[in-house]
Amino acid sequence: MFCCLNQIAYYVGLFVIGLVAVKFGFYVQRNFFRKGYDVHERYGKDSWILITGATAGIGLSLAKYSAKVKGLNVVLLGRNQEKLEEAEKEVKAANPKIKTKTYKFDFNNNSGYESYLKISEDLRDLDISMLVNNAGYMDLRPILTLKEEVMEQVTQTNINGLSLLTLIFAKRFAKRDKRSAIVNVASQAGYAPLPGNAHYGASKAFVRSLTKAVGYELRDKLDMLCFSPGFVTTAMTINKTGPDVVTSDDCCHCIFRDLGYETENQPSTLHEFVVFLVSPVLLINENLPNLVLSPMMGQEFKRMEDLRNKEK
Ligand SMILES: NC(=O)c1ccc[n+]([C@@H]2O[C@H](COP(=O)([O-])OP(=O)(O)OC[C@H]3O[C@@H](n4cnc5c(N)ncnc54)[C@H](OP(=O)(O)O)[C@@H]3O)[C@@H](O)[C@H]2O)c1
Ligand SMILES: *[C@@H]1O[C@H](CO)[C@@H](O)[C@H](O)[C@H]1NC(C)=O
Ligand SMILES: *[C@@H]1O[C@H](CO)[C@@H](O)[C@H](O)[C@H]1NC(C)=O
Repeated sequence: MFCCLNQIAYYVGLFVIGLVAVKFGFYVQRNFFRKGYDVHERYGKDSWILITGATAGIGLSLAKYSAKVKGLNVVLLGRNQEKLEEAEKEVKAANPKIKTKTYKFDFNNNSGYESYLKISEDLRDLDISMLVNNAGYMDLRPILTLKEEVMEQVTQTNINGLSLLTLIFAKRFAKRDKRSAIVNVASQAGYAPLPGNAHYGASKAFVRSLTKAVGYELRDKLDMLCFSPGFVTTAMTINKTGPDVVTSDDCCHCIFRDLGYETENQPSTLHEFVVFLVSPVLLINENLPNLVLSPMMGQEFKRMEDLRNKEK
């Protein structure tokens, strides 16, 4: 009996070590050797990238990076005209040679298909080859204190708007000769049910599922990437900082590096490691991560409430 158990443990151990070694190999390859595709070659010379929520945070960083490092023309979509103009100036300054355009649009009061289709129609003269569904909203709090209108905003922006734009641009991109790309910004909040931030977490689980399913269906024409960072220092987190937090500028390089190679990625080694740890725990029991996540969201809520109260 003991001999068998020993042997089983031995082979299970070997299997796990093998898996970890393969994972680590991919990690090294991705982070130290991968160059990323030449976007002009792959998606079309002098084509445009359309970024939603480009007035702040990750969207603004990505707009500047796309212009400066990738030489892409940029459409910035946002809901605030002044912020859009300010952001456009920053993008122009990052690379005066590229073209820019702004598009004012608020996901909160545009729920219908027609208003999203109009975005694509208004931009029909631009050879858009990349869409980044980045606009998102979060109000991290216990469900009983979540206002219904905020819940609707999160649904409109994170789920409805993202879905419709994915559909409209997938159809548009299917007609291009070259390949095209859609990057949907999800979050680590979408990996496991997230007590204390339940609806936002669910919206990001939706983004992860949609992006990977559509990405597989349309793999012959489209590179689809789900970008799922942990905490990022932006307005959304009220400028959260810490050893586990990355900046919005840290988010840009890995998106272009992995586009066309991966279906989902994270911006840092630590964020990758969290995913690596969470996946087997979820396999054991779906509720197990709650033991860590629930108190973590509680602390986060308290930190943000304190900051909001101080501002008042
Ligand atoms: N920060 C994090 O820790 C974190 C972690 C994982 C994933 N993410 C995701 O990353 C994405 C970007 O977030 P961020 O951290 O960069 O947040 P942010 O700094 O708050 O920026 C969000 C952007 O989306 C825009 N936006 C929000 N609601 C909108 C609406 N109804 N209509 C049009 N535009 C709207 C914002 O416009 P305004 O400037 O006008 O508000 C802003 O440009 C989101 O999808 C978020 O869920 C963030
Ligand atoms: C859309 O909603 C914003 C607030 O989110 C508001 O300021 C704006 O007036 C609304 N626009 C329309 C057309 O209802
Ligand atoms: C967050 O950081 C930005 C940029 O540094 C700053 O303009 C803003 O006032 C900060 N917000 C808070 C609440 O500290």
